[in-house]
Amino acid sequence: MAKKKMILDLDTGVDDALALAYALATPDSDLIGVVSSFGNTQVTTAGENTLKLLELLGRTDVPVFIGAAHSSTTDSFETMQVSMDIHGKNGIGDVALPAPTTALSSQTAVDFIIESAHKYADDLVIVPTGPLTNLAEAYQKDPEIENLIGNVTLMGGALVVPGNVTPYTEANINQDPEAADYVFKHAKHLVMVGLDVTLQTLLKIACIGNSITEGVGASSGSATYPSVLQRDLGTEKGRVFADIFDYYIDAYYDLDINKAGAALHDPLAVGVAVDPNLVTLLPLNMMVTHEDGRTIGDPTRLRDPHKNNFAAVAVDEPFYLER
Ligand code: RIB
Ligand code: CA
Repeated sequence: MAKKKMILDLDTGVDDALALAYALATPDSDLIGVVSSFGNTQVTTAGENTLKLLELLGRTDVPVFIGAAHSSTTDSFETMQVSMDIHGKNGIGDVALPAPTTALSSQTAVDFIIESAHKYADDLVIVPTGPLTNLAEAYQKDPEIENLIGNVTLMGGALVVPGNVTPYTEANINQDPEAADYVFKHAKHLVMVGLDVTLQTLLKIACIGNSITEGVGASSGSATYPSVLQRDLGTEKGRVFADIFDYYIDAYYDLDINKAGAALHDPLAVGVAVDPNLVTLLPLNMMVTHEDGRTIGDPTRLRDPHKNNFAAVAVDEPFYLER
């Protein structure tokens, strides 16, 4: 079987950065490109963050494409204060990285997605961890690719838990509910890795080699946390990722989102894209409500025996953290 080709669609914030590192490290797929989106930050900052991180990780061969600067229903975008609080003003925990030596690709994100869909078809997996604006636009520009792209595994949505922006909506879906609705309805095979599972996977302070904050230990429930981002590995990569995650974990603590650690949202989507056994999937044809960004069953498609949507509803946290 041919190795899967992966495209990441990142609004490069903190957890997107770890998704990128995971996608590069896994032997189970080839990362062929990263497209950028507005979301945690402005799209140009997201693209530059990706270039900088690729350089840090020694993979300047991976091309980066600029995508949507705002949602499909607006003509501008302002970064939300809460995004800056959680991800820093620069999106990556206010950690300064050297200017990249590589440049953004001149091809657009949408055209790169379309070209890759025709080239790799079923072997292509797209992993959006920000708004779904780029993918919706690609589907609309070239409807043929709906039947080509083999797998879309996204971080976003909330089926059985409250949202993290309002009681109903999750941040990535909230940025562009119309685009998300289009993608849920048109993707050939779509896996939603939402807050239902990502909130069950935490990176704790003890994981990154800092002094342990009182009450924050290295294990919780049945999970024992490995040392994944140790600054004491002595590598520049380890130090930078530990610094970036310090910011994120502190934000979770200070904003009282979770005092035990920070949710590993976006890397879980990469993990599930390469190994769906990390989660339990519920087959359910879904929709996104345009007015309030809810990700729910689509009444018009509920009885369709063919399911194109699968929602992750349980996760094997120790297995994931080990990965
Ligand atoms: O709701 C969590 C999601 O919103 C993550 O993808 C995070 O990076 C932000 O984009
Ligand atoms: Ca993200």
